[in-house]
Amino acid sequence: MAGPVPELDARATACADRIRDADRVLLASHIDADGLTSAAVASSALARADVPHDVVFKKQLDETEIASIAARDERVVLFTDFGSGQLDVIAEHEANGDFVPIIADHHQPADADTEFHLNPLLEGLNGATELSGAGAAYVLARALEPDGVDNRDLAALAVVGAVGDMQEQSGELVGANAGIVEEGVAVGALDTAKDLAVYGKQTRPLPKLLEYASDLNIPGISNDARGAQSFLKGLDVECYRDGDWRTWVDLSFEERQTITSALIKHAIGRGVPSHRIDDLVSMAYTFPNESTGTELHDASEFSTLLNATARYERADVGLAVCLGDRTGALDRARELLRNHRRNLSEGVNFVENEGVTYEEHLQWFDADDRIRETIVGIVAGMALGADGVARDRPILAFANEDDEHVKVSSRGTHALVRQGLDLSAVMQEASRAVGGDGGGHDVAAGATIPRGERDAFVAEADRIVGEQLG
Ligand code: C5P
Ligand code: C5P
Ligand code: C5P
Ligand code: ZN
Repeated sequence: MAGPVPELDARATACADRIRDADRVLLASHIDADGLTSAAVASSALARADVPHDVVFKKQLDETEIASIAARDERVVLFTDFGSGQLDVIAEHEANGDFVPIIADHHQPADADTEFHLNPLLEGLNGATELSGAGAAYVLARALEPDGVDNRDLAALAVVGAVGDMQEQSGELVGANAGIVEEGVAVGALDTAKDLAVYGKQTRPLPKLLEYASDLNIPGISNDARGAQSFLKGLDVECYRDGDWRTWVDLSFEERQTITSALIKHAIGRGVPSHRIDDLVSMAYTFPNESTGTELHDASEFSTLLNATARYERADVGLAVCLGDRTGALDRARELLRNHRRNLSEGVNFVENEGVTYEEHLQWFDADDRIRETIVGIVAGMALGADGVARDRPILAFANEDDEHVKVSSRGTHALVRQGLDLSAVMQEASRAVGGDGGGHDVAAGATIPRGERDAFVAEADRIVGEQLG
């Protein structure tokens, strides 16, 4: 069979054959948008192949969590969106006969081997930009199809996972991800179109859509409520109707064109350089089977809805939404989303009010108990470019994890990565230097360190970033 990612065919077939032989499978996945969609893709494929299974979610796959998985009855364990980084620990359990691991992941593998391991990095593909956890699960799902079953509809969820992990390059999915997009489009599960590159086209009122578009960084509009409103009022577009602001998806194609052209003109007029003008338009991934104007219609809003469940210990709610529950679970997810949005906006306000501390090569803040450690990384990413937060160096964010540990999240920009920044290495080396551990991707990584080691960690991280950028 030729799967969507030919480089992974052999690995996918081996994993699928082993799964078909199992009486029962335990599916274990990570608690973020990519982890949830990974689980939904894998669980759907298992159900369609008549493989009985249970699903569990873990915040972090450490020795304790792997031991708790080993203590369960299932002899075959499918790990999605994690597992590769903990392969050394997993392989020990495998050698002890505790369980047979099957891994569909895209994180950097630890130094160990196992038979059933589906990871783009093992075949020279990029795990941060070309395939997500949900993409790896999708490749497996395609290999698991029994006769008469077509799993290509699951491409929609794989795209939500890739977008949730911010895998887009210059505004669109590339590499193996692009092959998955093609399959989703072919079966009508997914639409693609060039559109304004802002978050919230389905649900945000127009002025908020532009005001919060801090990534675009348009002077006089981004982070400027009055500026955004007066810009819209100056256009020949009816942005306000029946006592309410309209949303982007309420507008006609011509009305959207008018606003986009005016934004580009405004940006050029304010001296925004041409390479950033190109960033104003990007590929939008939408789902024709979901109602327009809902979070479920758009990949980036869908992924935020999922983070709003999983990062608050309600991964079960997000999974149910992914699996098609459009009543109870969706209502609950929307409540959680309101809470998540409030926390994100309070988090960014906290950073703006308290400010960051500048070191030579990085900046940092310590939220302690003011921001939940599961979302402090998202806040750090949103804060880059906010008032008083520079975009010319990475940001580190600390939050309370438990009595003995502090969580660190780090975020950079693609421009910094092009200059040599690799936060995954920074988090790993600096945390190990102070008795912790960490990892992740070049633009986004995290770590856990012992309480009391913050300042030593900052000094070490600052030194490593300096080396990378110097
Ligand atoms: O666990 P992991 O790979 O799934 O998560 C990646 C995280 O990195 C996501 O939460 C995503 O929001 C973040 N990220 C980011 N900026 C990027 C790329 C990823 O904040 N440019
Ligand atoms: O929550 P998630 O990591 O998916 O968010 C991805 C990006 O979407 C954030 O970095 C932010 O720019 C944007 N976002 C937003 N408002 C929200 C949630 C997310 O602008 N309420
Ligand atoms: O938690 P945060 O959103 O900052 O995580 C960013 C990235 O770093 C994710 O891909 C996550 O899996 C990774 N990470 C890690 N080890 C940690 C913390 C985070 O590999 N201890
Ligand atoms: Zn992932």
